[in-house]
Amino acid sequence: MYTLDKLQSIVTKCHRCPLSKTRTNVVFGEGNPKAKLVFVGEGPGFNEDKIGRPFVGKAGQLFDKMIEAIGLKREYIYITNIVKCRPPNNRNPLEEESKICIEFLRWQVKIIEPDIIVCLGAVAARNIIDKNFKITKERGIWFNRGNFSIIATYHPAALLRDESKKREAWEDFKRIKKKYDEIDVKMER
Ligand code: URA
Repeated sequence: MYTLDKLQSIVTKCHRCPLSKTRTNVVFGEGNPKAKLVFVGEGPGFNEDKIGRPFVGKAGQLFDKMIEAIGLKREYIYITNIVKCRPPNNRNPLEEESKICIEFLRWQVKIIEPDIIVCLGAVAARNIIDKNFKITKERGIWFNRGNFSIIATYHPAALLRDESKKREAWEDFKRIKKKYDEIDVKMER
């Protein structure tokens, strides 16, 4: 079984899809390698591509505020994306690109063994939960897949574009924290 570091060294050299030609940096993901909670976004944006870290731009700053509001920190969780290289002009990743790259996400999840996976936005939810996932209708609902509880909420960038979505997103974050705390209690027994 690989470690996250070993996997990262492989992903950093990846040329399996055309996104590798236009990237500045691979954005592998970061956080607690033993996290109970893994957040999955869509793909790196401009700032993430420059720096090589996930969710460091405006959407990332809002994400940080939201996890802090439920008493969490980046050090407690793990955060990554469906695709590890920036799609040009921040377009959505193509199906083929996601299909190739999600293999790395599967490895990350196998290594981390989280209890909860949170899809940030429709792209993550369509790749992880269901290819026809409707974020406005199906966000905030728990799905059980094997050992994981999976939920989707709005992508923080969507909240920046449309403030009226923030109330529902806040409800989702409270649900996520409740599940997180329940798991804590289970593990302490
Ligand atoms: N949006 C994403 O989906 N992922 C990032 O890492 C940054 C912005």
